[in-house]
Amino acid sequence: MTLLEEIPRGAFNEACIPVLETKRLAMRAPRLEDAKTIAALANDRRIAENVARIPHPYQVPDAENFISLANKAGGEAVFLIALRDETVIGACSLVLQELKTQEQTPELGYWLGVPFWGKGYATEALHAVIDYAFTDLSHEALQAGARVTNPASRRVLEKCGFQWTGVGLYRIRAINSSAPIDRFRLERGIWSALKGWGRMKRVS
Ligand SMILES: CC(C)(COP(=O)(O)OP(=O)(O)OC[C@H]1O[C@@H](n2cnc3c(N)ncnc32)[C@H](O)[C@@H]1OP(=O)(O)O)[C@@H](O)C(=O)NCCC(=O)NCCS
Repeated sequence: MTLLEEIPRGAFNEACIPVLETKRLAMRAPRLEDAKTIAALANDRRIAENVARIPHPYQVPDAENFISLANKAGGEAVFLIALRDETVIGACSLVLQELKTQEQTPELGYWLGVPFWGKGYATEALHAVIDYAFTDLSHEALQAGARVTNPASRRVLEKCGFQWTGVGLYRIRAINSSAPIDRFRLERGIWSALKGWGRMKRVS
């Protein structure tokens, strides 16, 4: 690829996952040495039962597997969510592997360790990843889903400008079953209007 060629939408590799900085957070690609910390945080049923792919119990080899698959070209963009003092508190991903055309919409996934809930960190992290998806990756829309029993996640999505689009079913690995979810979508136009109105802070 020459410098003049357009970078395909959604294209990235490990080397170009940036550090996303917000007022209180610094988000970066996970590294193998993070496995123990990730396993300790994610090994909680309250997390596993609200996301699609985290098994329960969740051990260090699960975290190592997650890290080794993260941020491969054409796969999913994964950020660890860390405080500015480098304390790892959770993770956030943009699932891109189903993208066959530029029109398909990547899906946001996220979780925080339970001690870090209720402090606005998820909303702050999502703002940064959303900005990254619309600016650096040039996506036109994002989607997300939250279990109908998960009002905190729904609220986070609403605070980030997502709009409810309907209901669906997610396969939840930790419960070995499917569960009803609310589906949400954020269009570039809404994101851009909300930023223009100052309802979303620009991240550096
Ligand atoms: C969902 C999750 C990421 C939220 O993280 P967080 O950092 O606590 O979220 P924030 O503090 O940014 O925002 C949470 C919002 O939900 C609200 N909330 C929390 N519990 C709630 C409840 N039971 N009912 C209604 N609202 C609730 C909070 O008041 C806050 O809204 P506010 O700012 O208007 O007061 C976290 O709980 C988590 O990791 N859960 C398990 C995994 C998960 O659900 N991931 C999402 C998959 S879709």
